[in-house]
Formats: sequence, C-alpha cells, structure tokens
Amino acid sequence: MNSAFPRQLVSTKQLNPKNIQLFLEKTAKMEQALLENKSSQIMQGKIMAALFYEPSTRTRLSFETAFHKLGGKIISVAGSGSTSIKKGETIYDTIKVIENYADIIVMRHAQIGAPGEAINATQKPFINGGDGAGEHPSQSLIDLYTIYKEHGKIDELTIGFVGDVKYSRCIHSLTYLLKNFKTKLVYISPKELAMPHEIKKFLTENKITFKEARQIETEIKNLDVMYVNRIQKERFDDMEQYKKLKHSYIITTKLVKTGKKNLIVMDPLPRVGGILTEVDQLPQAAYFRQVKNSVPVRMALVDLVMNG
Ligand code: NCD
Repeated sequence: MNSAFPRQLVSTKQLNPKNIQLFLEKTAKMEQALLENKSSQIMQGKIMAALFYEPSTRTRLSFETAFHKLGGKIISVAGSGSTSIKKGETIYDTIKVIENYADIIVMRHAQIGAPGEAINATQKPFINGGDGAGEHPSQSLIDLYTIYKEHGKIDELTIGFVGDVKYSRCIHSLTYLLKNFKTKLVYISPKELAMPHEIKKFLTENKITFKEARQIETEIKNLDVMYVNRIQKERFDDMEQYKKLKHSYIITTKLVKTGKKNLIVMDPLPRVGGILTEVDQLPQAAYFRQVKNSVPVRMALVDLVMNG
C-alpha cells in the first residue's frame, strides 16, 4: 500500500488507510500549532490559485485562511463571470495558463469530471474543491477528522446521512472515504433523492454495510453521527419537484433528543431548511465545530499534496 499522499486529489477513492492516518496525524499537529499560534511558514514564497467557478463561502475562505496561516499568498477567482471561461475558454486551457502562476491549484466547478480535465493540463498539485454533484474530497476529510475528534474513533460507528443523498457531493466523498473503516452507513432520503446506482454498486463491491431508509424518526435511535445535507436546489431541472422535496427533513431539538446520548449532528453547511437554529444550543450540534476543523484540515491537506 502506498502511503504517499496523492499530489492531485480529485476523489476520496484515491485515499487508503496509510495516507488517511498520515492526514489525521498532520491535522492534529496543525491544530496544535494554531492553538499555540506557532504555525510554521512552510508556504512562504508559494502561491495558491483558488478557482471557484461555483458559489462558495466556507471552502474558498478556509482554503485561503489555511494557506495564509502557512505563510503563502493567494490568487483567486470567484464566479466564472469575470474570467475567459465566460468567453468559451476550456478548463484545459485555463489550467495550462494558471499553472504558470501558481504552485497549487484548488478548483470548484459545476461540471462533474471538470477536475479530470484540469489535471490533464498540469502536473502541479491540485485539489478538487467540489465538482457539481460529483465529489468534494476536502470537505469529507474535514468530516472524517470531526468524527474522529468527537467520538475518538471511526470504526464501529453508525453514520446516518440525511437529505439529498443523490446530489450531495459531500455525502458521496465521505462514503468513498469510509470504505477504509468499519462503519455502518444509513442513507435517509426521499426516494427521488436516493443514492445513485453506481455508488451503491461501489458499497456492495467493497462489502460496506449500508441500508436505505425514508424516515429519520425511526432511524435516529441507532445513529452515532447524523450527517445532514440540504436539498440541492441548483441540481434540479424541475423546480416543482424541488419545491415538493425541499422540506423533506426538519431537524428539531425534540428529534435530536430522541437519539443516542453520544449522537453528534453534522452538516457541511449551508443549512437551508434542515436543521433548525434551536438545535445549535445542544451539545450534539457539531456543525460549527466542523467548520472550525476546516482550517487545520486544509493546512494539512495543502502540505500533503505539495510535499507528500
Ligand atoms: C457543500 C458543497 O459545496 O458541496 N458546502 C461546503 O463546501 N461546505 C454543501 C452544500 O453546498 O450543501
């Protein structure tokens, strides 16, 4: 098994127990350094290109924060409107240009497969910052680190995913990542937003225990982690269907209190519908702690893709 971390991270399928262990250890070190205000300036003289052709708040700003904390500098694009992509330039050509400016590229794009086109154009370190309804590997590393920190382990946990299982790139990437652990997975969604067939095939082929369900009320009692992701409006062609499904799951204080004592509630955010703000007061609400973890995780991640 190759413990070297991939230089170009497109999918969590590229990760294995060895490089995940490396990642967890490095993140813990980055977190400690942040606490002591002693982050090493290993990215001094380096430039990150943060190319966000799809909306982003957390991913772009936390990658930028992470890179600044390590002493690096950023060039960035937020939205495709201001770039030559708008004029019809391909991703391939765009990356061929940007690789001359930057030492590492992070890209978010609405199209599934866009990262593949990008890495065809460059050997430079690259991180997929989310490709449409495809994957979001750096978010799932934040999620993994959060579960590890909150529960002290990942194996033997039952993790329930609630909401838009079909289009959530965060749920897809975390699913692939959890192949490396002994967890039980429960996908709770309306039938229209169930897990895509090819990912279920992956689960079966890799002998991962999973089930599909519709009602959170009946499933919550078995969960150690409830991972909520909003119904993804921008992925629907039919707005009537979106309107019908958008309020499928409302997470209330009363509901969370019916769960196990050690249950944690996670959400990659933004929350739109889903978790009510009243839940924020509960110790189970881990989503803002998840946000906090995003900086040391992305510090570790840029270091790993750039320096192995
Ligand atoms: C997620 C994303 O962009 O996929 N957000 C994030 O990166 N924290 C989740 C979402 O948009 O619902």
